[in-house]
Amino acid sequence: MCAVKHPIAFPINKGFEIPSIPLVLIKIIQTLDADKSSAKELEELILHDPALSARILRLANSAFYCFRARVKTISHAITLLGMNLVTSLAIGINIFDTFTKGSKSEAAHINQLWTHSCGVAVLVKEIWSRRSRIEKEGEFAFLCGLLHDLGKVILFKTYPGHYSSIYAIAKTETDPSISSYESEYYGVDHAAIGEMLAKQWGFPSELVSLIRRHHDPLALSDPMVRAVTLSDMLAKEFKIGYDGDDGLYEDMSDFYLRLGVSEAEYEGLKEFASRERENIEGFFKFSS
Ligand SMILES: [Fe+2]
Ligand SMILES: [Fe+2]
Repeated sequence: MCAVKHPIAFPINKGFEIPSIPLVLIKIIQTLDADKSSAKELEELILHDPALSARILRLANSAFYCFRARVKTISHAITLLGMNLVTSLAIGINIFDTFTKGSKSEAAHINQLWTHSCGVAVLVKEIWSRRSRIEKEGEFAFLCGLLHDLGKVILFKTYPGHYSSIYAIAKTETDPSISSYESEYYGVDHAAIGEMLAKQWGFPSELVSLIRRHHDPLALSDPMVRAVTLSDMLAKEFKIGYDGDDGLYEDMSDFYLRLGVSEAEYEGLKEFASRERENIEGFFKFSS
């Protein structure tokens, strides 16, 4: 199937150890349940991590958000960006950091995946906010986009070198998807591994389910799966980062229609993606 040899069974049934979750991340995940937490608590958690604080501030001051005044404090960033969005960013940055550390040879791929994930997050939020005015829902959509490919970071960590070689294969429309390569070599794909980790780390059940089902054609009746699928396609089309699958969605002529998106809306989303591409890449630079 590809130049990579020897299928390797993913140690899923052999006592595979889930990477331990950084303590700060557990606490930040708990703040997702906003009823039980306050902006002050979130601010304190972020302030405990100077690198995270610096990134959030840089992001708030990036071209991505055109705030007039300079954002100097985390509490100001939380007020301007919203608590849920800052929480999502803190989770995403923390996870990608955890997996990039100690994986020098994988870092370039993980960074590309991070850009892809940020792009999908921004696009899902846009799709969602065109359908719902409930801000909290749009922010949850952002988190779903940011973490949909979570399983891939675990594969980079578990199979250094090997997974990179699968990821780096330039795929065309007729090639199998990266999920097929994963199943062939590890006996499990990134959706299942992502679900396992997300469950163990105590993510909200809707997020666990989205991670599990984001490539399942039978799940396309779920609006969030549809929004993530469409965003994934747009991110690939506009080459926002790379997720190991580019080239597979060349013919999208009627796929968006099957997702219940009109031609006019699809054109609008394409314009949005093309306009935001630079900002998303700038966002990536600012947050990396
Ligand atoms: Fe995926
Ligand atoms: Fe993806």
